[in-house]
Amino acid sequence: TGTMKINKANHLEIGGIDTVSLVEKYGTPLYVYDVSQIKYKVRTFKKTFQDRNIAAQVAYASKAFSCLAIYQLMAKEELSLDVVSGGELYTAIQANYPSKKIHFHGNNKSDSEIIAALDYDIGCFVVDNFHELKKLNEYTIQRKQKVSILLRVTPGVEAHTHDYITTGQTDSKFGFDLNNGQAQQALQSALEMPYIDTMGLHCHIGSQIFETDGFRLAVDKLLTESKKWQELFGFHLRVLNVGGGFGIRYTAEDEPLPIEDYVNNLIDEVQIVSANVQLPMPEIWIEPGRSLVGDAGITLYQVGSQKVIPDVRNYLAIDGGMTDNIRPALYDAKYTGVLANRMEDKIEETYSIAGKCCESGDMLIWDLPLPKADDKDILAVFSTGAYGYAMASNYNRIPRPPVVFVENGQAFLAIKRESYADLMRLECSLY
Ligand code: LLP
Repeated sequence: TGTMKINKANHLEIGGIDTVSLVEKYGTPLYVYDVSQIKYKVRTFKKTFQDRNIAAQVAYASKAFSCLAIYQLMAKEELSLDVVSGGELYTAIQANYPSKKIHFHGNNKSDSEIIAALDYDIGCFVVDNFHELKKLNEYTIQRKQKVSILLRVTPGVEAHTHDYITTGQTDSKFGFDLNNGQAQQALQSALEMPYIDTMGLHCHIGSQIFETDGFRLAVDKLLTESKKWQELFGFHLRVLNVGGGFGIRYTAEDEPLPIEDYVNNLIDEVQIVSANVQLPMPEIWIEPGRSLVGDAGITLYQVGSQKVIPDVRNYLAIDGGMTDNIRPALYDAKYTGVLANRMEDKIEETYSIAGKCCESGDMLIWDLPLPKADDKDILAVFSTGAYGYAMASNYNRIPRPPVVFVENGQAFLAIKRESYADLMRLECSLY
């Protein structure tokens, strides 16, 4: 995808730069982001709404990958922004993100997080539960400060890749349940709160979703309830936020829809159903994370030791693993990869790619066909841009790799490599 190609040296090139030269300059493991691919994704989401003249907000769900540089980029692209913690909020503010474009999520926002968000005067709280609603009411009265909110509701629709399930009662820690009266109760209270403006509703039905049925069902439920609440309390649904979850390709088996299809389907459904239930068309908000940054990122590793178990398996170890990509170990997530320095060499072996952590579960890819590899080779793993760096850890006291942004033949260091000294920075000597 994006600007990746094979260059004349038979190397993988990204953003107009040879990955081998990136490795020479920055070392391994290394996360590389193709900036033009991110821009393409951002612009496609926005343009699809614009082309149909639909009032919309696209917010980057920054949990997928948060750092100063990505916040700066998303701000330049004029996206709204989702943050889910005081740390993400703080980093966004450090990047001069326009605070009115920030939406604050989370199922257990602390007092200090709520106060920080009020101090920064952010655009919107996505209120998750009664505890938060009560606090927000108290703080806003105390401070005589108006805030806009969306109520996060749990519609009883959950999508998992190709399937969705609907349940009367969703067993989830998030949101006000739509099916047991709690959402209605929350809305009724919110509407009576003097400094709280309830702009609309939010739901999020899952991640890495490949079909539109789940979104459509959620839209139907939310609009139908909104109509009821209009009649009951005069509630005016101005914003319908359907969350994120648009799928991307990790391996050849994944078949995500084009962004345009996800968005157009969504628009169609909101238009049809709001006309049916006789509600004015609300603004449509979405919050993609993975689909903006996931397939723009690759990870480059140095190949190291091998263990051949005759007739069973060839293990090929790389100099990273579950510390820079926990997803295979945590979710059984699938990835694919290539030898970036020998792109068109003959495929002769099947390797299972092992990380370097002291843990058998630290396997990145099972049974990957590759040229015969030795320890001068560089393995590139694709689609590591979402929930990779963001979920990286220092397990086994392994420093986190750096992040480089590439575009038009230029590379920019976005996050430095952690040093051993960095690992000691917070530690206190006691004995
Ligand atoms: N909005 C809300 C309320 C969310 O909870 C999420 C993701 C998103 C938006 C963005 O979803 P996306 O477009 O990225 O699918 N660590 C997991 C994914 C967790 C997603 C959590 N919520 C993974 O690596 O697959």
